Amino acid sequence: MTSDAYWAASSVQLGLTTAKKLSDRPGETLIEEKGLYLCMISVHGLIRAKEPELGRDPDTGGQVGYVLDLVRALAENSGIEKVDLLTRKVEGPAISNEYAIDMEQLSPNSRIVRLRCGPKRYIRKEALWPYLDEFVDRALQHFKAQDRLPDVIHTHYADAGYVGLQLSGMLNIPQVHTGHSLGRVKQQYLREGGMSQTQIERRFKISRRIEIEEQVLDQAAMIIASTRQEADQQYGLYERARPNRIKVIPPGLDLSRFHPPDKDWQPAEAIQIEVDRFLTKPNKPMILTVARADRRKNLEGLVEAYGKNPELKHRANLVIVAGNRDRISDLEESVAEILKNILILMDDYSLNGKVSLPKHHLPDEVPDLFRFAARRRGVFVNSAITEAFGLTLLEAAASGVPIVAPDDGGPVDIIRHCRNGLLVETLNFDALSEALLAVVTAGPKWRQWARNGLAGVKNHYAWDAHVRKYLKEIRQIIRGNRKSARHRIELLHKPPMLSANRMLALDIDNVLIGDKQGLQKLLEWIDVHRDGTIFAVATGRSLEDALSVLHENGVPTPEVIISSVGSEIHYGPRMLADSGWATHIHYSWRRLDVALALRDVPGLALQAKQNQREFKISYDTNSKMPSIEEIAGVLSAQGLRANLIYSHGAFLDVLPLRASKGRAIRYLSYKWSVPLEKILVAGDSGNDEEMLEGRTLGVVVGNYSPEIEHLRGHHQIYFAKSSHAFGILEGIGHYHFCETTDCSPGNHHSSV
Ligand code: GLC
Ligand code: MG
Repeated sequence: MTSDAYWAASSVQLGLTTAKKLSDRPGETLIEEKGLYLCMISVHGLIRAKEPELGRDPDTGGQVGYVLDLVRALAENSGIEKVDLLTRKVEGPAISNEYAIDMEQLSPNSRIVRLRCGPKRYIRKEALWPYLDEFVDRALQHFKAQDRLPDVIHTHYADAGYVGLQLSGMLNIPQVHTGHSLGRVKQQYLREGGMSQTQIERRFKISRRIEIEEQVLDQAAMIIASTRQEADQQYGLYERARPNRIKVIPPGLDLSRFHPPDKDWQPAEAIQIEVDRFLTKPNKPMILTVARADRRKNLEGLVEAYGKNPELKHRANLVIVAGNRDRISDLEESVAEILKNILILMDDYSLNGKVSLPKHHLPDEVPDLFRFAARRRGVFVNSAITEAFGLTLLEAAASGVPIVAPDDGGPVDIIRHCRNGLLVETLNFDALSEALLAVVTAGPKWRQWARNGLAGVKNHYAWDAHVRKYLKEIRQIIRGNRKSARHRIELLHKPPMLSANRMLALDIDNVLIGDKQGLQKLLEWIDVHRDGTIFAVATGRSLEDALSVLHENGVPTPEVIISSVGSEIHYGPRMLADSGWATHIHYSWRRLDVALALRDVPGLALQAKQNQREFKISYDTNSKMPSIEEIAGVLSAQGLRANLIYSHGAFLDVLPLRASKGRAIRYLSYKWSVPLEKILVAGDSGNDEEMLEGRTLGVVVGNYSPEIEHLRGHHQIYFAKSSHAFGILEGIGHYHFCETTDCSPGNHHSSV
């Protein structure tokens, strides 16, 4: 079956709860008339609706602010029904208990959904990697509980990118991704700073991150970049980037905070005093800069450029807002050094009374600073050496202040869109000071720049402008995903993996196949009951092998294929690997050492190459083979651990400790929220033992192999009298498998 046909087939698989819920509500519109449902994922950091603690640490900063703004702005759009923002649930003594609330309303139709992943406590993003599969599982459970699936999954940063890859692959929902920052760029930057590759790897787990970024770039339907430079140069470092899928949509600005001063406007008194107390003639035009005291911001260069230009010194004051301080000597060394250098330059160029270096300001006073500069017909300058985005330039533009900015990165886009000032080579002092002078002495041109900036920000950098561009792209993606002749009712339905409430898990050889007539009858049964039932096979064969034998026997592609004795899980029809399972069983598996340790054990001969897998070593055995306990002893003597599975008196499979068909079934039960009591398993031999035992509904077919005779009489293991597929049908009858769950024919294909 092609994947389109598969998803089309899922259209008739009405999740019963879904159908009910929707038809219960009279006048409920169909999905295409309803708005979009978007799912954002931003895993790390701390996210809450009120007073987000931006800047608390490196993981709770720009990205968190961006995501919150984006979600709110999207949710306000009439084309959007709702937005869920999935993030990590965190608990800890030093952390507000709001971050442990499962669901928090963000705006009338958006909310934060917190999912546990890994330890309860707050951990930095680099330490989250091993736990992301748990996030995937919890997200699936969240989706299962909703009455519809999201139209798009939009992930932020590589960790969420990984989660999104799994979800979008399994559920056939397009993924959109925003990198926020990129591993390859960071790696380059750290190397230039003199860090060794080993150090970078140890601290930042950079290669894992880069590999995931490559995969996301390959798979995602759209990548959102903030600037042209990010799109071309940063993503250009990646091998699998597809340039035509990278869209530049700059983030928006909160225009309710940043706006020009009106006639009656007065700066807050505190901020006016703080700025003006350094100045002899405060009413001159103000050259304002707001920046961290960081080398790359080139603040010393700015002071030098100002100090060297007598005309500029005469015409305007320079106001440098560079963080807060009490005493310079209490500051972090690199920051203190920059401030000291500024003071020395002020002395060298006799700038007292002309340069203001306010000691304190509150975050809330920043918009007033910009308005203050506008009122004094000043200029805002960003003197950085390079600038990827340049948020402060937009804040200035929104406040009606013309700008001077580096001829690089984000500012190039800003000036192109806003035409509100000048780009300069910021390391060239003459050029920098001439540009500043040109703006403060511009006359009518100054007013034009100020007006252009206001209009440019509204059109290009307001969140509603962002949302407009965003939705235009998203709609196209969704349309692409919905193409083909699928009926729109299907959009109400979840794919079988999510709508089902029970599962049939069958061994292939000697169980599902082996008796043509029995198989025919069983396939008819499956066909009738497929709605609400996940059809899975669990086999010792490899994936490829299993697929071909199923095909030869006319068995339709199952939803799940557990292959190589439970060491691999794939989802049909696209055979998407469950990488969460691989991550899980990878634990304490030393394949090479195990193979070496068993090399000289008598009675074991390696099977053919195609039976050897990353997580499975298989042997043919003969009578010289020692007992399984002895073989386990050989391994443990060397500190090795593995799961040894003996079957048909002829095969020995050596798997990672956590792998077996039985554990694969338990994993699926958890991941897809299908209770074990609703899973009927059928098998015939030793490698089926674990899945037959426990709370599952076990069926042993009549033609079973002697090593599982001892299961007779165990709770919930039914030994059928009939063989092969007839035995499975007998078991289905024995457990009243379908009758115990709501799948009477009358409930099928219900219409909405
Ligand atoms: C299948 C596999 C083989 C395995 C056996 C028992 O025949 O091909 O590798 O040893 O099942 O699990
Ligand atoms: Mg078998």
